[in-house]
Amino acid sequence: MKILVVGSGGREHALAWRLARSRRVQVVYVAPGNGGTAREPNLMNVPITDLNTLAAFAEREKVAFTVVGPEAPLAAGIVDLFRARGLRIFGPTQRAAQLESSKDFAKAFMKRHRIPTADYETFTDPAAAHAYVERRGAPIVVKADGLAAGKGVVVAATAQEAHAAIDAMLVDNRIGEAGARVVIEDHLQGEEASFIVMVDGHHILPLASSQDHKRLHDDDQGPNTGGMGAYSPAPVVTPAIHARVLREIIKPAVEGMAADGIPYTGFLYAGLMIDAEGHPRTLEFNCRMGDPETQPIMVRVKNDFVEVMEHALAGTLDRAAIDWDRRTALGVVLAAEGYPESPRRGDEIVGLPAGGSAIDEDCFVFHAGTAVDGARTLTAGGRVLCVTALGDSVKMARTRAYRAIDSIRFEGMHYRRDIGHRAIGRGPAR
Ligand code: AMP
Ligand code: GLY
Repeated sequence: MKILVVGSGGREHALAWRLARSRRVQVVYVAPGNGGTAREPNLMNVPITDLNTLAAFAEREKVAFTVVGPEAPLAAGIVDLFRARGLRIFGPTQRAAQLESSKDFAKAFMKRHRIPTADYETFTDPAAAHAYVERRGAPIVVKADGLAAGKGVVVAATAQEAHAAIDAMLVDNRIGEAGARVVIEDHLQGEEASFIVMVDGHHILPLASSQDHKRLHDDDQGPNTGGMGAYSPAPVVTPAIHARVLREIIKPAVEGMAADGIPYTGFLYAGLMIDAEGHPRTLEFNCRMGDPETQPIMVRVKNDFVEVMEHALAGTLDRAAIDWDRRTALGVVLAAEGYPESPRRGDEIVGLPAGGSAIDEDCFVFHAGTAVDGARTLTAGGRVLCVTALGDSVKMARTRAYRAIDSIRFEGMHYRRDIGHRAIGRGPAR
């Protein structure tokens, strides 16, 4: 069978790689893909980003089903478009994708369905927004309503910072239409975790828990990024918290969407803040898998992921199961100089494994911002690679990943050296 994966990041490389391991798969097309998916056995890049052209390609190639990685095509309605043409695709409709594409939609939805999250209000009027900040005090969080590629959230330590963020978004239009409306919410304390599930409209199949590292520098310093590394499982998600998240957040979300007449299909990602007492609250919903969380999650899947996808598409996820590798997987992002502000491109990467992502059976180099240039591979984006390794403990996975990084080089390459520090701080991981 042929499968189509939409996207070009490390998440899509890992997902396509996992799907291609199924014996039933002849080829996984990746549109548009990257330098890593170009060289991975059984993967083939397709240089198409226009959604109608992509649907025509899926029809012509008799693609069995399509899986969408990033939020932008989902928010643009790729699922609606493919379905209207009778094509099987896994992801939320444009309306359902509002859970990510509009923070105001997500917050109102959570309030309506009593899903635990920070108190908030939404504003278009700067004066009213400033007055709200004065009333609530700092720390406080200012979020652009729309999709802003990671630039839409300001965690303000002082009221002054919050006021500046409001002016940047509502007055100076600094991030465009996405920031024409802002959500201002209370600051939550605790430890973050990523809780990603598959949803078929009705049934829920949780993926393994994970934790991302959003800040650019070690010790969680520096600006927010798309994610500098991740590992799975996240020990902060104890079995008790896992059960609570399903009961208090995920189930009410899936049932709430169905009750509101917008049944949810696709990956659903709840970004959690877990406080010291173990209460999980929702920071955000994403209508897709996380990047880089997907890379460690996918290397832990042991059974045929195509079968799981087929259940998801058929509405029978209650009959699907994922056989998880009991070990920990940990991925470290290698970023380009200037990331996240203005990454440098075009540097040659040396030391990559030949013939695909695998260094050995427990260590993989997934590509994101890379491009093929003849026999060479060049940097072509901010997050360049994600080196992901399995180990019997977080420490062992980490040692393996960093050892693999030692042989990879490109000009300006930088990465965090403390991925997994919270899990290691907690003592032995599961
Ligand atoms: P979001 O895109 O909404 O997940 O926000 C990006 C990051 O900002 C999150 O991963 C958190 O680190 C931080 N953040 C967002 N909302 C809050 C909040 N209410 N309290 C504390 N930190 C937050
Ligand atoms: N790594 C965070 C995200 O994918 O949103």
